[in-house]
Amino acid sequence: MKRYLIGLDIGTSSTKAILVDDAGHIVKSVAPAYPFQTPKPLWAESDPEDWWRATQTAIAELLGKDIAPEAVAGIGLSGQMHGLVLLDGEGKVLRPCIMWNDQRTAAECAELTERVGARRVLEITGNPILPGFTAPKIEWVRKNEPEVWAQVRHILLPKDFIRYRLSGVFGTDVSDASGMSLLDVGARRWSPEMAEACGVKLEMLAEVAESAEVTAHVHAAGATATGLAEGTPIVAGGGDQAAGAIGCGIVSAGRVSCTLGTSGVLFAHAEEFRPDPDGRLHAFCSAVPGKWHFMGVQLSCAGAYQWFRDQLAPGEPFEALNEGAAAVPPGADGLLFLPYLTGERTPHPDPLARAVFCGLTLRHKRAHMTRAVMEGVTFGLRDALEIMRDLGLQPTEIIAAGGGAKSPLWRQILADTFSTPIVTVNATEGAAYGAAILAAVGAGLQPDVVSACENWIAQTSRTEIDPATSEIYDKVYPAYAALYPALKPTFDKLGEISG
Ligand code: XUL
Repeated sequence: MKRYLIGLDIGTSSTKAILVDDAGHIVKSVAPAYPFQTPKPLWAESDPEDWWRATQTAIAELLGKDIAPEAVAGIGLSGQMHGLVLLDGEGKVLRPCIMWNDQRTAAECAELTERVGARRVLEITGNPILPGFTAPKIEWVRKNEPEVWAQVRHILLPKDFIRYRLSGVFGTDVSDASGMSLLDVGARRWSPEMAEACGVKLEMLAEVAESAEVTAHVHAAGATATGLAEGTPIVAGGGDQAAGAIGCGIVSAGRVSCTLGTSGVLFAHAEEFRPDPDGRLHAFCSAVPGKWHFMGVQLSCAGAYQWFRDQLAPGEPFEALNEGAAAVPPGADGLLFLPYLTGERTPHPDPLARAVFCGLTLRHKRAHMTRAVMEGVTFGLRDALEIMRDLGLQPTEIIAAGGGAKSPLWRQILADTFSTPIVTVNATEGAAYGAAILAAVGAGLQPDVVSACENWIAQTSRTEIDPATSEIYDKVYPAYAALYPALKPTFDKLGEISG
């Protein structure tokens, strides 16, 4: 019997589900969508029941009439990171998930950091406590919704809520758990010290495993709800960035990727846990067993481009916008864009940072603005690359992934801004594909994560640097980098005015 794997990515606005055969080929891919809510400024929430409904639809569609449920050898989970899902003793969802891009917890971050000490936080978790991370959200609920907190028995990340619904098991993996500010990232287990500081009992947290380990099996209720066979193994999986990195082969020293998704991420594999002493880049456990990674996260990346299209060119296909932007000279005739539509994380962890067009003149057309958005997002990613270079990482090529990387123009802008060739690979389903690879290893169809990537992933394109354009970007980038510090007092003032 032919064997298959299912990779699931519980994303911000859809659940991507793919069916992969035992040779690594994608047989089918579906992505039922759901909304997320921004009930107040700085807030971003999502209903976990929406993810579960989308997962049920997606799995039913993947199996269809042709695939016998018993042919599914394993399931891999990945998903949006950092989200806070709270369940009571009966497994009921107590409030909407507070998501990764929610920025309400600046005060709680400061309080928790004060409680533990900034140096100690960095030593244990490898990172400062940032508003997107999970622990300050827990603190926020404890302070602001005591009636909810009193009922909490289980704290889960988004993909782990789906594991619970499929299997009844409370499990997580080291890469996703790294983004909670509760994990001892060097030791790859929960930190009792951080948990205590956040008022969390260890039994509220899911059991942590390495990403390719089988942590659960589909139970009877999960099988009835989805059409999967009871007993199908589920591996621990990974946070969407860690799983996405597996999905494009970032599994050994020197490998770096750049993902242009809703968020933008520069991601580097690390053989050892050696966090940046200044905490500028995230240092998390990798989905490769026993390894780590560095990561710079931009909150609005292709998401900024989508906002631009929806607001200023509604209905226009991206291809048409890209064509217009390609006809504009590099540097967009002196127009700059700061992409901080939802505040920022790397390199300015600031919920009040705002997006800006700077340098507009009467000569500028919509195509200039389009190009400025693509360039501004890329300069923001270069900020993270400069920190990596500062830490001694010198990638000789960077793998581009995510929706934005489909654009040859954007890949050229990346190569010229980073002064590094950009390559793409055959595996374009990112985190869902990485999750399927982890499932293949857990199910015993592949020997280990590194070999699975070698067997299944191949380079498909290479974009070389255009030296003349690169020189222009080297001149424009310092002007971009000077904008945030210059505007910071204005962002703070605007934050005060708008409450
Ligand atoms: C990573 C992060 C985002 C979300 C998006 O730290 O916050 O990439 O995981 O899904």
